Amino acid sequence: MFLIKAGFELGLLCVLLVITTVAEAKTKITKKSFGLLDDGTPVEIYTLANGKIEAAIATYGGIVVSLRAPDRNGNMDDVVLGYDSLNQYVSNNPYFGALVGRYANRIAHGSFVLEGKTYSVPKNDGDNSLHGGARGFDKAVWKAKPIKDGIELSYVSRDGEQGYPGTLTATARYTLNDNELRIEYSATADKPTVVNLTNHSYFNLAGQGRGTILQHQLKITASRFTPVDSTLIPTGELRSVEGTAFDFRAPTPIGQRIDANEDQLHKGKGYDHNWVLDKVPGRLSEAAELYDPGTGRVLHVLTTEPGLQFYTGNFLDGTIIGKQGRRYAWRSGLCLETQHFPDSPNHPNFPSTELKAGKRYHSVTAFKFSVRSDPGGKQ
Ligand code: GLA
Repeated sequence: MFLIKAGFELGLLCVLLVITTVAEAKTKITKKSFGLLDDGTPVEIYTLANGKIEAAIATYGGIVVSLRAPDRNGNMDDVVLGYDSLNQYVSNNPYFGALVGRYANRIAHGSFVLEGKTYSVPKNDGDNSLHGGARGFDKAVWKAKPIKDGIELSYVSRDGEQGYPGTLTATARYTLNDNELRIEYSATADKPTVVNLTNHSYFNLAGQGRGTILQHQLKITASRFTPVDSTLIPTGELRSVEGTAFDFRAPTPIGQRIDANEDQLHKGKGYDHNWVLDKVPGRLSEAAELYDPGTGRVLHVLTTEPGLQFYTGNFLDGTIIGKQGRRYAWRSGLCLETQHFPDSPNHPNFPSTELKAGKRYHSVTAFKFSVRSDPGGKQ
């Protein structure tokens, strides 16, 4: 009896041990040099690996320089576009993998009014300001420290930097949780300001540099989008996706309607728009699901943000040679930028991007990978 009980308890202990090891699948964090900037500032790459997925993050621009996930046969590949060297990121980066701020996306005419004062921010996209101006957060060197299952990057943006008011202390925590890369952004300011932070990874679930993303199937949890003018500034309307090429409520191949004769598609040269997510604001919930039938890779994007910029790499023109010498063709990567709506400071009807002094900005986005075994099937 004693022996049976002891045996049973031993068995239970073993089961418990296995479960604990699985549950605590620890992320291994390694650090290496990525070189020096022209002014001598050292830049590092932190690689996070947990046996399921692997992410490499540079302290320059918080850039996700690689993100490796398995296909349906267990083969790992890098599913984000980027460069092999720091110098290329510095000299010509269309925001590959970057942490974008202080204000992701566009601000019309580089101007907004906050608490009765007009602020001017750099016009680096025609007459508009894009992605925080000429020297946005994507070009800053962030301080890094290892945390549980990942790293925390921090950056202090001084009062008046790129025209934005208030000293802003921003942090971005990149962690691996099982099969997901999670990014948690926080910020505080000492004066009222505006904040909109995102990550600008260009995904290609077939593997970076392996053709276009037109065969990927996309689902976006949104019944409305924000139509734009010819400079990609929202008109202010929240338009129903019903009956348009912007209806991704059911999974649809991206290439199916991208060249449809619709005015909004002409304006964006494809998809380059903000979708108004159907969700309870502030709650981490599904924004999009992307599936590559060729490899079986699936990416779920979850966010606490109210909007999602879906951009089909329409400005990639085949001149960029990326990682491993691969040429990035037109529409060979797509971005799913979780965000507040573009130009919100100039649209009182959009969710506010104002951060009051002493309050905390907080936002979470998760990129979760899985596979589907049957190319035509559901799972
Ligand atoms: C964003 C914009 C696009 C483009 C890219 C960078 O996604 O919406 O219009 O500027 O960044 O090339």
